[in-house]
Amino acid sequence: MKGLILAGGAGTRLRPITHTSAKQLVPIANKPILFYVVDDMAAAGIKDIGVVVSPESGREIATALGDGSQFGVELTFIPQAEPLGLAHCVRIASDFLGDDDFVMYLGDNMLQQKLRPLVDRFVAERTRPRELHDPESELPAAQILLAHVDDPRQFGVAEVNAQGGVVRLVEKPADPPSDLALTGVYIFDKRIHAAVNAIQPSARGELEITDAIQWLIDAGFPVMHEVLEGWWIDTGKKDPLLHCNRLVLDTIVARIDGDLDAESRVEGRVVIEAGAVLRASVVRGPAVIGAGTKLTDTYVGPYTAIGANCELRDAEIEHSVVLERSRIIGVHHIHDSLLGREVEVVRSGDRPKATRLMLGDHSRADLE
Ligand code: DAU
Repeated sequence: MKGLILAGGAGTRLRPITHTSAKQLVPIANKPILFYVVDDMAAAGIKDIGVVVSPESGREIATALGDGSQFGVELTFIPQAEPLGLAHCVRIASDFLGDDDFVMYLGDNMLQQKLRPLVDRFVAERTRPRELHDPESELPAAQILLAHVDDPRQFGVAEVNAQGGVVRLVEKPADPPSDLALTGVYIFDKRIHAAVNAIQPSARGELEITDAIQWLIDAGFPVMHEVLEGWWIDTGKKDPLLHCNRLVLDTIVARIDGDLDAESRVEGRVVIEAGAVLRASVVRGPAVIGAGTKLTDTYVGPYTAIGANCELRDAEIEHSVVLERSRIIGVHHIHDSLLGREVEVVRSGDRPKATRLMLGDHSRADLE
């Protein structure tokens, strides 16, 4: 079984955070989303992994992932010149995939459920002894993972019949046939290659994997499905990202490797990385403070991840994500916020007293 991780695309939905960097590298509890995906594949025994990257994101993603040895896997980067759709990714990965079965995982998705039981079920179903005339057509060609969602219109949606079979899949329907969304994890055998080559671009101009799976169903090939256990988040937007950060922070193991003075305190589930320095500061978990970050006269409240090499002085922040090398000075009550890299939020004291902003495209400032 091989792996195919999709980490290309335009990444427009998390602008300006991902204006200059790949959305798959936005951190959850200070670890890039993509790293969770690779770790999950490695834990499922998948060691030969292709990563689809875009011209904009390729170099950054390759630098972050390296050759895969830090995860115990081998990585092959597959450049996609334009984001022409998820099925297009399978087309351009065909040389890498060959005739092998593979797991396709969207690089901006996070699942609580582990991959291993899903892979095991697919393999078990395909290797089950059969007394059939045409074993190939009876073997599952794909397995999809579904989740009940509140607003199915923003996802691929599955219609399942009374016998539990998947009968129809539609991409982002205006009038969804069910509340079962396709999550970003798929398992395929080699028949998907015929499917992705047979379909035409959708109304949004993309080769949809949803249409390719529909092609398999129409060809009479069995498509298995499973309804997800636990949470699943498509992290491309701020609020789901903060939500996901919350869920993951709830599972971290407390560890204090940084340097705290006598006036500083940590409470609850907190990670202070090596090289972080706390002076007269309080961190109330769940929270993580990145390596080399300095907190002075600062309060960091629950559900906050502060990246590496940040500086917070006379600051109060909670339920927020701050990426590396940012500075927050003299500002209190920062809640529900997502700050990119090298962001400065400062109370300078300059006259005239005023709020002076320099915000990138699509930024939002919600003042108290
Ligand atoms: O998140 C689940 C949903 O993902 C499914 O319910 C939909 O059926 C499926 O089409 C997909 O929808 P999105 O519109 O959310 O996909 P998005 O464009 O965000 O791309 C998902 C990932 O794949 C993301 O990491 C970028 C990458 N990608 C995307 C495209 C279109 C590529 O690498 N190449 C591409 O051409």
